[in-house]
Amino acid sequence: MSHDDFPTDDPAVVTCGLPYANGDLHIGHLRTYVGGDVYRRALERLGQETAFVSGSDMHGTPVAVNAEQEGVSPERFALDWHERYAATFPKFNVEFDNYGHTHDETNTEVTQQLVRDLDEAGHLYEKEIMVAYDPVDDQYLPDRYVEGTCPYCGAHARGDECDEGCQRHLEPGEVEDPESTITGNPAEYRERTHKFFEVSAFAEYLSDFLDRLEGTSNARNQPREWIEQGLQDWCITRDMDWGIDYPGGEATESPREGGETAEQDLVLYVWVDAPIEYISSTKQYSEGVGADAFDWEAAWKEGASDAHPEGGEIVHVIGRDIIQHHTIFWPAMLEATGHAEPRAVMASGFVTLGGKGFSTSRDRAVWADEYLDEGFHPDPLRYYLATNGGFQQDVDFSWEKFRDRVNTELVGTVGNFLYRSLLFAHRNYDDAPIADATSDEVAERIDEAIDAFAAAVNDYSVRAVGDAVTDLARFGNEYIQRSEPWKLVDDEPEKAAQVIHDCVAIAKAIAVLFEPIAPEKAERLWDQLGEDGSVHETTVEAAREGPAGDLAEPTELFAQIEDERVAALNEKLEARVADAEDDESGEEDGESGEEDDEADGEESGDDGGTDENDTADESGDTDDMPDIEPLSDDRIGFDDFQELDIRIGRIEEAEGIEGADDLLKLRVDLGAETRTIVAGLKQLHDVDDLPGTKVAVLANMEKAELFGVESNGMVLAAGEEADLLTTHEDAGPGTKVK
Ligand code: 2FM
Ligand code: ZN
Repeated sequence: MSHDDFPTDDPAVVTCGLPYANGDLHIGHLRTYVGGDVYRRALERLGQETAFVSGSDMHGTPVAVNAEQEGVSPERFALDWHERYAATFPKFNVEFDNYGHTHDETNTEVTQQLVRDLDEAGHLYEKEIMVAYDPVDDQYLPDRYVEGTCPYCGAHARGDECDEGCQRHLEPGEVEDPESTITGNPAEYRERTHKFFEVSAFAEYLSDFLDRLEGTSNARNQPREWIEQGLQDWCITRDMDWGIDYPGGEATESPREGGETAEQDLVLYVWVDAPIEYISSTKQYSEGVGADAFDWEAAWKEGASDAHPEGGEIVHVIGRDIIQHHTIFWPAMLEATGHAEPRAVMASGFVTLGGKGFSTSRDRAVWADEYLDEGFHPDPLRYYLATNGGFQQDVDFSWEKFRDRVNTELVGTVGNFLYRSLLFAHRNYDDAPIADATSDEVAERIDEAIDAFAAAVNDYSVRAVGDAVTDLARFGNEYIQRSEPWKLVDDEPEKAAQVIHDCVAIAKAIAVLFEPIAPEKAERLWDQLGEDGSVHETTVEAAREGPAGDLAEPTELFAQIEDERVAALNEKLEARVADAEDDESGEEDGESGEEDDEADGEESGDDGGTDENDTADESGDTDDMPDIEPLSDDRIGFDDFQELDIRIGRIEEAEGIEGADDLLKLRVDLGAETRTIVAGLKQLHDVDDLPGTKVAVLANMEKAELFGVESNGMVLAAGEEADLLTTHEDAGPGTKVK
């Protein structure tokens, strides 16, 4: 691994978090998979050798609990879901080089070997711990078989994770007031012998590792805090039948209550064998294509290859709820066993639906298959999920927003440029009019787009990959509009030919640079351009080469979504939610302890953060959302927006104003200067907490005098509670919002 910019000479492995094989995928689940696929394709377009792998997470209580409810064996249950996932991802053009699963022979072998290596290196030890136990059912209750109260924040928590509160991983025995999730019985704690991995011994290594780690900033910041708070060792075995056996068998004996001794069925904790599938899946890929085509050992093992002594460029794409596993436990396991260190972790935000969480129990979801069954092409959804916000920010999906982005950007900007240019070229020249070369202006603009694309990859920003293309298409529209080739074609045919040549060159660059986001559409465009081979095999260098000519008659690449369609889709969704709510209340009458949405969410297929999509309910109880004002149809142009000089500011001081109950006088650093701004925040915010807060400021707001204080700008806030608009990364004072 090197930290040189991509592309490097080392092989890269891009992985996506493994979905638990336990339920249908909805479009929220697709965020990390689309993100991973875009990233991998973008690396390849830069010329980086890359393997893209994942697999289904078959073990653990998330699967066992649901299989039990269905009355089938966990293996049958998980394999069924695995097969469905393996078929679903390609439908969204998420093309893994290998999609395995954690229960197969390769992963069993690789996992058991890695655990043996940990043991031989002296990093494992045995310890007696308290484990939740249901005395009525005579069953141990690992992980999601038990729920209770988080000892750190007091929130209701699962046995292995404070999913509704502080998001910490919880060790066995930690959850307070335990109850069985199967029977609802109060549980008790019993002493058992388990295996531990001494993660705490890696604190210093992990701290340095985080300094080197690339990717999204959330993947570095949260773990730094956890390390500062002190790392605990990690219990890596469970009292269960379903899982990979602890190597060497079920050797440990431990006393049961009443003096009885029983042999323990120890399997490895699901979070041990799950990330190891990243290695196993790469191995399977390598074995399929041959080590000459991709050498998994060179990528994963330090010292396995002279050419890549530190291993390859490992990039993990995950949901933000599993950062701890990927930045603490996993790198410690890799370091302890001589494996390559991850270069980057890209941790995505959640996906919400119309501002509220997905709710599988209320059928408040757009299911992956449903999206396709509605006749939508996968690429617009990929575009939406990849570019609707920064990777670590939450993305809200609504059919309206989807329509707006498709109609404005894909149809209005990219599609419009391509269609008008290629149609004009085809009608007037039949082939691309080959001028001697692309004009300097356009060649430079294409180079800029390629640079922006490469910078996006090196910034781990899938959104910026998309922006590189839409910006280029915007330029294309402006260029053809200002050059007016239709006026030149009779009198100045050479000039017209140059313009059209330039436009076809831009179209070719769009095909190459858009391949990661919209692979199928890019391939169609490639064919329309009469280019040889496949756009999937190109690199960005092809975007610098002039067009081949031989244009086919163009067809529109993206289809407009009509308002009536959106209304019908919303109606369908609402009717479904209403039906599900009726069913749910009917069931509630007959059943005590009906699970809430978060719990139901576990049933619905967790991914590299798929719980995220259900736990997004945490941020919005579907029943008491405020009424939302209708969105304005009164459109403004980009120029109007440009007139708003919105900047990032940092509040330096905040104090009350004599005689004004609601107002505060703020001193806000706007980079170029520090301004006094009066804001109605006094009743809504703790004045002492405000200094240091970053805010968005309308800097060219008319000055106003309020209670004798001149206000020179306006702080932006949302809603009745004046929720202050802020930034989440490192945009400093003075940065323009655009
Ligand atoms: O949280 C989850 O959905 C897990 N199935 C993710 C596993 S990712 C990896 F490490 F294997
Ligand atoms: Zn907690």
